[in-house]
Amino acid sequence: MKVLLLFFFLATIIATCQGASHPVVSHHNPGFDCLSWRLTVETNNIRDWAVVPQAFVSYVGHYMLGYQYREDAQAVADATYNHAKSTQLIKDFRNTWIFDLGDTVLSSYPYYAQPDIAFGGMKYNSTKFAIWVKKGISLAVPGVLDLYKKLQSLGYKIVLISGRSESLRAVTIKNLKNLGFTNWEKLILK
Ligand SMILES: *[C@@H]1O[C@H](CO)[C@@H](O)[C@H](O)[C@H]1NC(C)=O
Repeated sequence: MKVLLLFFFLATIIATCQGASHPVVSHHNPGFDCLSWRLTVETNNIRDWAVVPQAFVSYVGHYMLGYQYREDAQAVADATYNHAKSTQLIKDFRNTWIFDLGDTVLSSYPYYAQPDIAFGGMKYNSTKFAIWVKKGISLAVPGVLDLYKKLQSLGYKIVLISGRSESLRAVTIKNLKNLGFTNWEKLILK
């Protein structure tokens, strides 16, 4: 789960810094500059960071709830589909497409949008997150349902893999089906 979250926030922060139209963070303080922080996180020089620095929380929040996140997610989905389409599938072979689940297929941004979570501005609390996941109200990452279906029509079997525990199987299946995800080959949980 920690790894999944890290990817979530990486993707979030990277695009947030680039997409900001009116910077909130002062560039007079290079030690706390959004883009420098992003570079060091992206290159994995800053590791094991627990929270998004307070000065960037607003960026992250606006990005996740705004137009740019949807555009970026759709662009990734489009690129993924183009890649899949260009791959020659072997007939009668078991062609499988593996999706990570958390914040690749199922988005937990409504959880992170809660004021006391503040898009990672507050320390991650696994208990709190688990309680939210059990509600089964994750949303689909923009563009992913369409990609999922298109991959199936190309002939791929879908495998979903997640750090979620087996105890969350029923709620996860219900959540996926409510969002329109169907006919996966396998759902692999911890
Ligand atoms: C994590 O969340 C739970 C449930 O809301 C709460 O009881 C607990 O105190 C929180 N832990 C920390 C370290 O904040």
